[in-house]
Amino acid sequence: MKYYIHTYGCQMNIHDSEKIAGILRDMGYDECNSPEEADVVVFNTCCIRETAEKKIYGHIGQMKKLKCKKPNLIVAVCGCMSQQEGASEHIRQSYPFVDVVLGTGNLNMLRQGIENAGRQRLFNTDFCCVREEDFPQYRTSYPNAWVNINYGCNNFCTYCIVPYVRGRERSRRPEDILAEVKGLLSDGYKEITLLGQNVNSYGKDIEGASFASLMREIGKLPGKFRLRFMTSHPKDLTQDIIDAVAEHKNICNNVHLPVQSGSSRILKAMNRRYDRESYLALVERIKECIPDVGITTDIMVGFPGETEEDFCDTLDLVRKAQFSSAFCFVYSPRKGTPASLMPQIDDAVKKDRITRLLACQNEVTKRISKTMVGKRYEVLVEGNNFRYKDTMCGRTESGRLVNFKCDSSLVGKFVTVKIERASSATLWGVVTEEE
Ligand code: 5AD
Ligand code: SF4
Repeated sequence: MKYYIHTYGCQMNIHDSEKIAGILRDMGYDECNSPEEADVVVFNTCCIRETAEKKIYGHIGQMKKLKCKKPNLIVAVCGCMSQQEGASEHIRQSYPFVDVVLGTGNLNMLRQGIENAGRQRLFNTDFCCVREEDFPQYRTSYPNAWVNINYGCNNFCTYCIVPYVRGRERSRRPEDILAEVKGLLSDGYKEITLLGQNVNSYGKDIEGASFASLMREIGKLPGKFRLRFMTSHPKDLTQDIIDAVAEHKNICNNVHLPVQSGSSRILKAMNRRYDRESYLALVERIKECIPDVGITTDIMVGFPGETEEDFCDTLDLVRKAQFSSAFCFVYSPRKGTPASLMPQIDDAVKKDRITRLLACQNEVTKRISKTMVGKRYEVLVEGNNFRYKDTMCGRTESGRLVNFKCDSSLVGKFVTVKIERASSATLWGVVTEEE
Protein backbone atom coordinates (compact mmCIF):
# COMPACT_ATOMS: atom_id res chain seq x y z
CA MET A 1 0.00 0.00 0.00
CA LYS A 2 1.46 3.32 -1.07
CA TYR A 3 0.86 7.03 -0.53
CA TYR A 4 1.69 10.13 -2.55
CA ILE A 5 1.51 13.60 -0.97
CA HIS A 6 1.42 16.69 -3.15
CA THR A 7 2.45 19.69 -1.03
CA TYR A 8 1.81 23.28 -2.09
CA GLY A 9 2.84 26.54 -0.44
CA CYS A 10 5.03 27.47 2.50
CA GLN A 11 7.26 25.72 5.06
CA MET A 12 4.29 25.39 7.40
CA ASN A 13 2.65 23.15 4.80
CA ILE A 14 5.86 21.23 4.15
CA HIS A 15 5.98 20.44 7.85
CA ASP A 16 2.25 19.57 7.98
CA SER A 17 2.95 17.08 5.18
CA GLU A 18 5.52 15.43 7.47
CA LYS A 19 2.66 14.89 9.94
CA ILE A 20 0.40 13.55 7.16
CA ALA A 21 3.20 11.17 6.15
CA GLY A 22 3.57 10.16 9.81
CA ILE A 23 -0.13 9.22 10.02
CA LEU A 24 -0.02 7.29 6.73
CA ARG A 25 3.12 5.36 7.67
CA ASP A 26 1.51 4.50 11.00
CA MET A 27 -1.35 3.00 8.99
CA GLY A 28 1.11 0.84 7.06
CA TYR A 29 1.49 2.89 3.86
CA ASP A 30 4.84 3.54 2.18
CA GLU A 31 5.84 6.55 0.12
CA CYS A 32 5.85 6.43 -3.70
CA ASN A 33 6.84 8.89 -6.41
CA SER A 34 3.65 9.48 -8.38
CA PRO A 35 -0.17 9.41 -8.02
CA GLU A 36 -0.25 6.59 -10.61
CA GLU A 37 1.56 4.22 -8.22
CA ALA A 38 -0.37 5.33 -5.14
CA ASP A 39 -3.31 3.88 -3.19
CA VAL A 40 -3.80 7.16 -1.34
CA VAL A 41 -3.17 10.61 -2.83
CA VAL A 42 -3.19 13.58 -0.45
CA PHE A 43 -3.26 17.18 -1.66
CA ASN A 44 -1.93 19.48 1.07
CA THR A 45 -3.13 22.79 -0.29
CA CYS A 46 -2.39 26.53 -0.26
CA CYS A 47 -4.69 29.45 -1.08
CA ILE A 48 -2.45 32.47 -0.55
CA ARG A 49 -2.80 33.50 -4.22
CA GLU A 50 -5.31 32.63 -6.92
CA THR A 51 -2.64 31.09 -9.15
CA ALA A 52 -1.89 28.46 -6.47
CA GLU A 53 -5.54 27.65 -6.05
CA LYS A 54 -6.28 27.30 -9.78
CA LYS A 55 -3.32 24.97 -10.20
CA ILE A 56 -4.42 22.79 -7.29
CA TYR A 57 -8.01 22.47 -8.52
CA GLY A 58 -6.53 21.44 -11.88
CA HIS A 59 -4.41 18.74 -10.21
CA ILE A 60 -7.34 17.46 -8.14
CA GLY A 61 -9.44 17.32 -11.34
CA GLN A 62 -6.86 15.00 -12.90
CA MET A 63 -7.68 12.39 -10.24
CA LYS A 64 -11.06 11.75 -11.91
CA LYS A 65 -9.42 9.87 -14.79
CA LEU A 66 -7.02 8.06 -12.49
CA LYS A 67 -9.88 6.91 -10.28
CA CYS A 68 -11.67 5.45 -13.33
CA LYS A 69 -8.57 3.33 -13.92
CA LYS A 70 -8.05 2.57 -10.21
CA PRO A 71 -11.48 2.62 -8.49
CA ASN A 72 -9.95 1.87 -5.07
CA LEU A 73 -7.77 4.97 -5.15
CA ILE A 74 -8.39 7.22 -2.13
CA VAL A 75 -8.17 10.98 -2.71
CA ALA A 76 -7.83 13.40 0.22
CA VAL A 77 -7.65 17.20 0.19
CA CYS A 78 -6.48 19.11 3.26
CA GLY A 79 -4.72 22.33 4.25
CA CYS A 80 -5.51 26.00 3.74
CA MET A 81 -7.59 25.79 0.56
CA SER A 82 -10.10 23.37 2.07
CA GLN A 83 -10.44 25.59 5.15
CA GLN A 84 -11.73 28.50 3.03
CA GLU A 85 -15.39 29.30 3.38
CA GLY A 86 -17.48 27.22 0.98
CA ALA A 87 -14.50 25.23 -0.36
CA SER A 88 -15.37 21.94 1.31
CA GLU A 89 -18.95 22.09 -0.05
CA HIS A 90 -17.65 23.03 -3.51
CA ILE A 91 -15.35 19.99 -3.54
CA ARG A 92 -18.13 17.72 -2.25
CA GLN A 93 -20.41 18.73 -5.12
CA SER A 94 -18.03 19.27 -8.01
CA TYR A 95 -15.37 16.62 -7.30
CA PRO A 96 -17.36 13.46 -6.44
CA PHE A 97 -14.20 11.34 -6.65
CA VAL A 98 -12.66 13.11 -3.61
CA ASP A 99 -13.09 10.93 -0.50
CA VAL A 100 -11.79 13.13 2.31
CA VAL A 101 -11.65 16.89 2.89
CA LEU A 102 -10.02 18.18 6.07
CA GLY A 103 -8.94 21.67 7.13
CA THR A 104 -5.88 23.03 8.89
CA GLY A 105 -7.02 22.15 12.40
CA ASN A 106 -8.10 18.52 12.24
CA LEU A 107 -5.44 16.44 10.51
CA ASN A 108 -5.98 13.91 13.28
CA MET A 109 -9.15 12.82 11.43
CA LEU A 110 -7.18 11.68 8.38
CA ARG A 111 -6.87 8.11 9.63
CA GLN A 112 -10.64 7.79 10.12
CA GLY A 113 -11.32 9.38 6.71
CA ILE A 114 -9.04 6.94 4.93
CA GLU A 115 -10.32 3.91 6.82
CA ASN A 116 -13.93 4.72 5.87
CA ALA A 117 -13.19 5.78 2.29
CA GLY A 118 -15.32 3.95 -0.28
CA ARG A 119 -18.16 3.56 2.25
CA GLN A 120 -18.49 7.11 3.49
CA ARG A 121 -17.03 10.42 2.36
CA LEU A 122 -15.61 12.67 5.11
CA PHE A 123 -15.92 16.46 4.93
CA ASN A 124 -14.85 18.22 8.10
CA THR A 125 -13.09 21.53 8.57
CA ASP A 126 -13.77 21.99 12.32
CA PHE A 127 -10.89 23.12 14.47
CA CYS A 128 -9.97 20.40 17.00
CA CYS A 129 -7.45 21.21 19.70
CA VAL A 130 -4.97 18.45 18.93
CA ARG A 131 -1.55 18.74 20.41
CA GLU A 132 1.48 18.61 18.16
CA GLU A 133 2.84 15.84 20.40
CA ASP A 134 -0.06 13.59 19.40
CA PHE A 135 1.10 13.34 15.78
CA PRO A 136 3.55 10.79 14.51
CA GLN A 137 5.95 12.67 12.20
CA TYR A 138 7.97 11.44 9.28
CA ARG A 139 10.72 13.97 8.71
CA THR A 140 11.94 14.52 5.17
CA SER A 141 14.34 17.44 5.38
CA TYR A 142 17.45 16.14 7.21
CA PRO A 143 19.77 17.80 8.31
CA ASN A 144 17.08 20.42 8.94
CA ALA A 145 14.07 19.83 11.17
CA TRP A 146 10.97 22.05 11.22
CA VAL A 147 9.48 22.82 14.61
CA ASN A 148 6.14 24.65 15.02
CA ILE A 149 6.20 27.15 17.85
CA ASN A 150 2.96 29.02 17.20
CA TYR A 151 0.01 28.61 14.88
CA GLY A 152 -2.41 31.04 13.29
CA CYS A 153 -2.29 34.81 13.03
CA ASN A 154 -4.05 37.76 14.65
CA ASN A 155 -2.74 40.49 12.39
CA PHE A 156 -5.33 40.59 9.63
CA CYS A 157 -3.23 42.32 7.01
CA THR A 158 -5.95 43.43 4.61
CA TYR A 159 -4.72 41.32 1.66
CA CYS A 160 -4.14 38.09 3.56
CA ILE A 161 -6.28 34.96 3.82
CA VAL A 162 -4.10 33.27 6.46
CA PRO A 163 -5.95 34.50 9.59
CA TYR A 164 -9.18 33.13 8.10
CA VAL A 165 -7.80 29.68 7.29
CA ARG A 166 -5.28 29.16 10.10
CA GLY A 167 -7.28 30.71 12.93
CA ARG A 168 -6.15 32.80 15.90
CA GLU A 169 -2.62 32.82 17.31
CA ARG A 170 -1.80 29.89 19.61
CA SER A 171 1.61 29.22 21.14
CA ARG A 172 2.94 25.79 22.04
CA ARG A 173 4.23 25.42 25.58
CA PRO A 174 7.95 26.23 25.84
CA GLU A 175 8.69 22.95 27.65
CA ASP A 176 7.09 20.94 24.80
CA ILE A 177 9.10 22.83 22.18
CA LEU A 178 12.31 22.39 24.14
CA ALA A 179 11.68 18.67 24.57
CA GLU A 180 11.07 18.30 20.81
CA VAL A 181 14.25 20.22 19.96
CA LYS A 182 16.36 18.18 22.41
CA GLY A 183 15.00 14.98 20.87
CA LEU A 184 15.83 16.19 17.35
CA LEU A 185 19.37 17.15 18.32
CA SER A 186 19.97 13.79 19.93
CA ASP A 187 18.62 12.16 16.74
CA GLY A 188 21.39 13.97 14.81
CA TYR A 189 19.55 16.92 13.25
CA LYS A 190 21.94 19.82 12.73
CA GLU A 191 19.56 22.64 11.96
CA ILE A 192 16.32 23.50 13.74
CA THR A 193 13.93 25.94 12.04
CA LEU A 194 11.28 27.40 14.32
CA LEU A 195 8.05 27.99 12.42
CA GLY A 196 5.20 30.39 12.98
CA GLN A 197 3.14 32.83 10.93
CA ASN A 198 4.66 35.47 13.20
CA VAL A 199 7.31 33.91 15.45
CA ASN A 200 7.96 37.27 17.14
CA SER A 201 4.62 37.17 18.88
CA TYR A 202 5.35 33.71 20.30
CA GLY A 203 4.34 33.41 23.96
CA LYS A 204 1.97 36.37 24.14
CA ASP A 205 -0.71 33.91 25.22
CA ILE A 206 1.46 32.14 27.83
CA GLU A 207 2.51 33.84 31.05
CA GLY A 208 6.26 34.29 31.35
CA ALA A 209 7.00 33.07 27.80
CA SER A 210 8.55 35.11 25.00
CA PHE A 211 10.25 34.43 21.68
CA ALA A 212 13.56 35.87 22.88
CA SER A 213 13.66 33.65 25.97
CA LEU A 214 12.63 30.58 23.94
CA MET A 215 15.51 31.23 21.54
CA ARG A 216 17.95 31.74 24.41
CA GLU A 217 16.87 28.43 25.97
CA ILE A 218 17.37 26.59 22.68
CA GLY A 219 20.50 28.56 21.77
CA LYS A 220 22.34 27.42 24.88
CA LEU A 221 21.70 23.69 24.33
CA PRO A 222 25.00 21.83 23.99
CA GLY A 223 26.48 20.60 20.72
CA LYS A 224 27.02 22.17 17.34
CA PHE A 225 23.80 22.99 15.53
CA ARG A 226 22.06 25.91 13.87
CA LEU A 227 18.86 27.58 14.95
CA ARG A 228 16.74 29.42 12.37
CA PHE A 229 13.28 30.97 12.61
CA MET A 230 10.59 32.29 10.31
CA THR A 231 8.57 34.46 9.76
CA SER A 232 9.20 37.73 11.63
CA HIS A 233 6.66 40.55 11.56
CA PRO A 234 8.57 43.88 11.61
CA LYS A 235 6.15 45.41 14.12
CA ASP A 236 7.00 42.72 16.71
CA LEU A 237 10.75 42.31 16.20
CA THR A 238 12.04 43.65 19.52
CA GLN A 239 15.58 44.62 20.54
CA ASP A 240 15.47 41.67 22.93
CA ILE A 241 15.03 39.30 19.97
CA ILE A 242 17.83 41.01 18.03
CA ASP A 243 20.08 40.71 21.10
CA ALA A 244 19.25 37.01 21.51
CA VAL A 245 20.31 36.38 17.88
CA ALA A 246 23.49 38.42 18.33
CA GLU A 247 24.44 36.72 21.64
CA HIS A 248 24.22 33.09 20.57
CA LYS A 249 26.60 31.52 18.11
CA ASN A 250 24.06 28.77 17.45
CA ILE A 251 21.40 31.22 16.26
CA CYS A 252 21.84 32.05 12.57
CA ASN A 253 22.46 35.63 11.47
CA ASN A 254 19.51 35.42 9.14
CA VAL A 255 16.21 37.29 9.47
CA HIS A 256 13.24 36.88 7.15
CA LEU A 257 11.45 40.20 7.54
CA PRO A 258 8.61 40.70 5.03
CA VAL A 259 8.24 44.38 4.13
CA GLN A 260 5.41 43.99 1.54
CA SER A 261 5.70 47.58 0.28
CA GLY A 262 8.04 50.56 0.49
CA SER A 263 5.21 53.09 0.57
CA SER A 264 3.92 54.20 3.98
CA ARG A 265 0.54 54.97 2.44
CA ILE A 266 0.19 51.43 1.08
CA LEU A 267 1.54 49.88 4.29
CA LYS A 268 -1.24 51.68 6.16
CA ALA A 269 -3.86 50.38 3.72
CA MET A 270 -2.38 46.90 4.22
CA ASN A 271 -2.75 47.27 8.03
CA ARG A 272 0.93 46.43 8.54
CA ARG A 273 1.34 48.81 11.49
CA TYR A 274 4.82 50.11 10.60
CA ASP A 275 5.91 52.65 8.02
CA ARG A 276 8.74 52.93 5.53
CA GLU A 277 10.98 54.91 7.88
CA SER A 278 10.57 52.64 10.91
CA TYR A 279 11.18 49.57 8.72
CA LEU A 280 14.40 51.01 7.30
CA ALA A 281 15.50 52.04 10.81
CA LEU A 282 14.85 48.47 12.00
CA VAL A 283 16.94 47.07 9.15
CA GLU A 284 19.81 49.40 10.10
CA ARG A 285 19.57 48.38 13.75
CA ILE A 286 19.62 44.67 12.85
CA LYS A 287 22.68 45.21 10.64
CA GLU A 288 24.48 47.11 13.42
CA CYS A 289 23.77 44.48 16.08
CA ILE A 290 24.23 41.26 14.06
CA PRO A 291 27.44 41.10 12.02
CA ASP A 292 27.12 39.80 8.42
CA VAL A 293 23.39 39.36 8.83
CA GLY A 294 21.38 38.22 5.80
CA ILE A 295 18.01 39.95 5.68
CA THR A 296 15.43 38.49 3.32
CA THR A 297 11.94 39.72 2.61
CA ASP A 298 8.59 39.32 0.87
CA ILE A 299 7.34 42.12 -1.38
CA MET A 300 4.06 42.57 -3.16
CA VAL A 301 3.23 44.74 -6.17
CA GLY A 302 -0.18 45.86 -7.40
CA PHE A 303 -1.95 46.21 -4.06
CA PRO A 304 -5.22 48.19 -4.59
CA GLY A 305 -4.51 51.89 -5.03
CA GLU A 306 -0.73 51.47 -5.55
CA THR A 307 0.40 54.38 -7.73
CA GLU A 308 3.60 54.63 -9.77
CA GLU A 309 4.96 56.83 -6.98
CA ASP A 310 4.16 54.19 -4.31
CA PHE A 311 5.85 51.56 -6.44
CA CYS A 312 8.95 53.76 -6.89
CA ASP A 313 9.08 53.99 -3.08
CA THR A 314 9.23 50.19 -3.02
CA LEU A 315 12.10 50.14 -5.54
CA ASP A 316 13.90 52.79 -3.49
CA LEU A 317 13.45 50.79 -0.27
CA VAL A 318 14.81 47.68 -1.99
CA ARG A 319 17.96 49.61 -2.94
CA LYS A 320 18.33 51.05 0.55
CA ALA A 321 17.62 47.89 2.57
CA GLN A 322 19.96 45.68 0.46
CA PHE A 323 18.09 42.42 1.07
CA SER A 324 20.16 39.33 0.37
CA SER A 325 17.10 37.99 -1.43
CA ALA A 326 13.40 38.75 -1.82
CA PHE A 327 10.30 36.76 -2.68
CA CYS A 328 8.32 39.03 -4.98
CA PHE A 329 4.60 38.56 -5.59
CA VAL A 330 1.82 40.07 -7.63
CA TYR A 331 -1.08 40.97 -5.35
CA SER A 332 -3.96 38.54 -5.75
CA PRO A 333 -7.43 39.43 -4.40
CA ARG A 334 -8.62 36.84 -1.86
CA LYS A 335 -12.34 36.44 -1.24
CA GLY A 336 -13.37 37.59 2.23
CA THR A 337 -10.40 39.93 2.78
CA PRO A 338 -10.92 43.74 2.97
CA ALA A 339 -8.47 44.47 0.14
CA SER A 340 -10.46 42.34 -2.30
CA LEU A 341 -13.28 44.91 -2.03
CA MET A 342 -11.01 47.87 -2.85
CA PRO A 343 -10.65 49.16 -6.47
CA GLN A 344 -8.16 46.85 -8.20
CA ILE A 345 -5.14 47.62 -10.37
CA ASP A 346 -4.79 46.66 -14.01
CA ASP A 347 -3.06 43.33 -14.72
CA ALA A 348 -0.73 44.93 -17.28
CA VAL A 349 0.46 47.45 -14.66
CA LYS A 350 1.05 44.66 -12.14
CA LYS A 351 3.05 42.72 -14.72
CA ASP A 352 5.22 45.71 -15.56
CA ARG A 353 5.91 46.38 -11.87
CA ILE A 354 6.83 42.81 -10.96
CA THR A 355 9.32 42.72 -13.85
CA ARG A 356 10.93 45.96 -12.70
CA LEU A 357 10.97 44.85 -9.06
CA LEU A 358 12.64 41.53 -9.91
CA ALA A 359 15.28 43.32 -11.98
CA CYS A 360 15.94 45.75 -9.13
CA GLN A 361 16.37 43.04 -6.47
CA ASN A 362 18.47 41.03 -8.90
CA GLU A 363 20.95 43.90 -9.10
CA VAL A 364 21.14 44.02 -5.30
CA THR A 365 21.62 40.26 -4.95
CA LYS A 366 24.28 40.32 -7.66
CA ARG A 367 26.19 43.08 -5.87
CA ILE A 368 26.09 41.21 -2.53
CA SER A 369 27.10 37.94 -4.24
CA LYS A 370 30.16 39.61 -5.77
CA THR A 371 31.35 40.76 -2.33
CA MET A 372 31.30 37.11 -1.21
CA VAL A 373 33.63 35.83 -3.95
CA GLY A 374 37.05 34.86 -2.52
CA LYS A 375 35.73 34.60 1.05
CA ARG A 376 35.27 31.45 3.14
CA TYR A 377 31.99 30.51 4.81
CA GLU A 378 30.86 27.72 7.04
CA VAL A 379 28.20 25.72 5.21
CA LEU A 380 25.95 22.90 6.42
CA VAL A 381 25.85 20.29 3.63
CA GLU A 382 22.19 19.62 2.76
CA GLY A 383 22.39 17.21 -0.19
CA ASN A 384 22.32 17.05 -3.97
CA ASN A 385 21.36 20.12 -5.89
CA PHE A 386 19.00 18.45 -8.34
CA ARG A 387 19.41 21.30 -10.81
CA TYR A 388 23.08 20.54 -11.38
CA LYS A 389 24.35 16.99 -11.81
CA ASP A 390 27.00 15.78 -9.32
CA THR A 391 26.69 18.97 -7.30
CA MET A 392 25.97 19.29 -3.60
CA CYS A 393 24.57 22.33 -1.87
CA GLY A 394 24.17 23.90 1.50
CA ARG A 395 23.61 27.24 3.18
CA THR A 396 25.84 29.80 4.78
CA GLU A 397 24.79 30.86 8.26
CA SER A 398 23.22 33.97 6.71
CA GLY A 399 21.02 31.77 4.53
CA ARG A 400 22.71 31.94 1.10
CA LEU A 401 22.63 28.75 -0.95
CA VAL A 402 26.07 27.59 -2.16
CA ASN A 403 26.86 24.87 -4.74
CA PHE A 404 30.03 22.79 -4.52
CA LYS A 405 31.39 19.32 -5.21
CA CYS A 406 31.86 16.92 -2.31
CA ASP A 407 31.18 13.38 -1.25
CA SER A 408 27.57 12.61 -0.31
CA SER A 409 28.83 11.24 3.03
CA LEU A 410 29.24 14.88 4.09
CA VAL A 411 25.47 15.51 4.18
CA GLY A 412 24.69 16.79 7.68
CA LYS A 413 28.29 17.95 8.26
CA PHE A 414 29.65 21.46 8.52
CA VAL A 415 32.31 22.31 5.93
CA THR A 416 34.20 25.46 5.00
CA VAL A 417 33.54 26.59 1.45
CA LYS A 418 35.54 29.19 -0.44
CA ILE A 419 33.29 31.05 -2.88
CA GLU A 420 34.82 31.07 -6.35
CA ARG A 421 32.06 32.30 -8.60
CA ALA A 422 28.74 34.08 -8.34
CA SER A 423 26.02 34.37 -10.95
CA SER A 424 23.46 36.66 -9.38
CA ALA A 425 21.67 34.54 -6.76
CA THR A 426 23.74 31.40 -7.27
CA LEU A 427 27.09 30.94 -5.52
CA TRP A 428 29.67 28.33 -6.48
CA GLY A 429 32.57 27.29 -4.28
CA VAL A 430 35.09 24.65 -3.25
CA VAL A 431 35.31 22.82 0.06
CA THR A 432 38.51 23.84 1.85
CA GLU A 433 37.91 22.18 5.20
CA GLU A 434 35.77 19.31 6.49
CA GLU A 435 34.38 18.82 9.98
N1 5AD B 1 -1.51 38.24 -2.91
C1 5AD B 1 -0.18 38.14 -3.18
N2 5AD B 1 0.73 37.83 -2.25
C2 5AD B 1 0.30 37.58 -0.99
N3 5AD B 1 0.97 37.26 0.13
C3 5AD B 1 0.07 37.13 1.13
N4 5AD B 1 -1.17 37.37 0.67
C4 5AD B 1 -1.06 37.65 -0.65
C5 5AD B 1 -1.98 38.00 -1.66
N5 5AD B 1 -3.28 38.11 -1.42
C6 5AD B 1 2.42 37.16 0.18
C7 5AD B 1 3.00 38.09 1.25
C8 5AD B 1 3.39 37.13 2.35
C9 5AD B 1 3.77 35.92 1.54
C10 5AD B 1 3.81 34.65 2.33
O1 5AD B 1 2.80 35.85 0.54
O2 5AD B 1 4.12 38.74 0.72
O3 5AD B 1 4.46 37.62 3.13
FE1 SF4 C 1 -0.94 37.18 6.63
FE2 SF4 C 1 -0.17 39.47 7.79
FE3 SF4 C 1 -0.66 37.29 9.31
FE4 SF4 C 1 1.50 37.36 7.72
S1 SF4 C 1 1.11 38.73 9.47
S2 SF4 C 1 0.04 35.63 7.93
S3 SF4 C 1 0.77 38.52 5.95
S4 SF4 C 1 -2.15 38.43 8.09
